[in-house]
Amino acid sequence: MTQPTDIRRDGERPLLLDLFSCASGAAMGYARAGFTVHGCDIARRPNYPFPYHRGDALAYLAHLIATGEIRRYAFVHASPPCQDKCSLTVGTNRSQGWGGTHEDLVAPTRALLDRTGLPYVIEQPNGRAEIRKDLTLCGEMFGLGVIRHRNFELGGWTTARPAHVPHRGRVRGYRHGRFYDGPYVAGYGSGGGKPSIAELQAAMGITWTAVREELTEAIPPAYTEHIGAAFLASRSLEAAA
Ligand SMILES: C[S@@+](CC[C@H](N)C(=O)[O-])C[C@H]1O[C@@H](n2cnc3c(N)ncnc32)[C@H](O)[C@@H]1O
Repeated sequence: MTQPTDIRRDGERPLLLDLFSCASGAAMGYARAGFTVHGCDIARRPNYPFPYHRGDALAYLAHLIATGEIRRYAFVHASPPCQDKCSLTVGTNRSQGWGGTHEDLVAPTRALLDRTGLPYVIEQPNGRAEIRKDLTLCGEMFGLGVIRHRNFELGGWTTARPAHVPHRGRVRGYRHGRFYDGPYVAGYGSGGGKPSIAELQAAMGITWTAVREELTEAIPPAYTEHIGAAFLASRSLEAAA
């Protein structure tokens, strides 16, 4: 592949800022696509395998912009907490312990990202109206054992939207008192036919954390490997033009 000439690099690899980084489901995919990744998460995340800043992501991003340090980066990914209104926090799932009062950080994250002048991605689960659905990815597109639809808003760049592919069957588990078997496991919750940690790791393609909360929060790395490769290819095309 032609190496892009117009993007900022850390050595040979472009540098990516991974906001709300958790245990690096997203980050790992970008690393596989060819980025050096730096994370930021408010929680202690010893399973995050890349350098990361522990603190509030919006304050950190504002600091990077104010100091000019943001210019080290070529690309930003943000996965603001999604528990505000996503489909897991409405209807029956709310009564099962999800939901409650959560701050919606999508709009302030986008406002700061626009100030960086950098190309970016904001990720949210299905059921959220607040982001543009420039890409929607699904585990079946990558042969995974989770369906896990995720939407991605692309800021400052575009790529082709892959077609959705039919699911092979159901998500295994109980719904309204009835057990359904199927080729996918649920990527959230526990009990009621939900997967073991080992099943969840295998289904998502994530081996470096066994913390259920980190697994259930993660994007499968296959998604961001696809997005990262698409971004680098788009820059290669621009550089070659
Ligand atoms: C949906 S998870 C991100 C998942 C991650 N992209 C992945 O694929 O593994 C959201 C993360 O945001 C973190 N978080 C919540 N509020 C935050 C804040 N104000 N600043 C930084 N991180 C925050 C949580 O600790 C959690 O790890």
